[in-house]
Amino acid sequence: MEFRITPIFTFLSLALVLVTSFASLPSDPEAYWKSVLPNTPMPKAVKDLLHPEWMEDKNTVVKVGKDAVDIDHDLSVAPGNAYEAGATMDQLHQLENFTVYFLENDMKEGTKMNLQFTKATIESAFLPRPIAESIPFASKELPEIFKKFLVTPKSVEGKTMKKTIKKCEKPGTKAEYCATSLEEMIDFSTSKLGKRVKAMSTEVENETQLQKFSITGVKKMAGEETVVCHKLPYAYAVFYCHKISNTKAYKVSLEGADGTKAKAVGVCHFDTSAWNPKHFAFQALKVEPGIVPICHLFGEEDIVWVPKV
Ligand SMILES: *[C@@H]1O[C@H](CO)[C@@H](O)[C@H](O)[C@H]1NC(C)=O
Ligand SMILES: *[C@@H]1O[C@H](CO)[C@@H](O)[C@H](O)[C@H]1NC(C)=O
Repeated sequence: MEFRITPIFTFLSLALVLVTSFASLPSDPEAYWKSVLPNTPMPKAVKDLLHPEWMEDKNTVVKVGKDAVDIDHDLSVAPGNAYEAGATMDQLHQLENFTVYFLENDMKEGTKMNLQFTKATIESAFLPRPIAESIPFASKELPEIFKKFLVTPKSVEGKTMKKTIKKCEKPGTKAEYCATSLEEMIDFSTSKLGKRVKAMSTEVENETQLQKFSITGVKKMAGEETVVCHKLPYAYAVFYCHKISNTKAYKVSLEGADGTKAKAVGVCHFDTSAWNPKHFAFQALKVEPGIVPICHLFGEEDIVWVPKV
């Protein structure tokens, strides 16, 4: 489902600088969540980034991001050019056996789709806001950032970090935001949807091969506005969040041919008229822009916010 192309790349040195100061800091992303959202359970995708083991084990390799071919980031909702990107023949071919997009008619029990779940690996963690804010996050400060994280600019990690910063610097609208801490993500999402919100992420019991999954249940969420936060590869947890209107979010229960169960979060877009006519979804589903609602499921690292009824 995440269509990840390895190699997962790693670097050894999100240095002890951060690890040490993190441990002793009173300010706490989890406490902030509880104070702003006392009645909103934390989704797994958030919890996974709060207590990463590497924080305690200074010898553990710190992984930074994955070299991912990610449909959401690269084709449909790239920051700054949302829905503008078209798909190449290569991309269409590469994903020919995956159900990436589907029609709203198929958002129902019994529908079968070809999916693969790759377990989200803990590769970075949220930094408490005061620490995140004290670290530069701008293209012009890349030399200092590289120095701080002991990354060489020409390495894969260096290039990826640069790309993530560039994505975040693209002029966007008020509906988009790059959050460099959980606290910022909470502030952005609640500024768009209010404080009565649900936060959800896709959960799967096991990693799977590409296989047929059947929908065994669908639950429609309230509201027509959704805030979606996509994890970007970086030395610590950075999310590109955006508010989308004219959408419906769903919780989708799935069961794979091998018995693996998953609870996925999905969304249907009701207005696709502004999308690039060459968008992957139109080519894969052979439909015209703006005619029918188009749906997709989220990967395990995306966080989806909806209003609570
Ligand atoms: C899709 O599946 C077919 C049949 O199993 C296989 O021959 C083909 O190589 C697959 N496509 C890709 C891009 O993996
Ligand atoms: C997950 O996969 C492992 C290895 O294939 C297996 O031993 C385990 O039982 C699976 N867990 C679940 C919950 O299916």
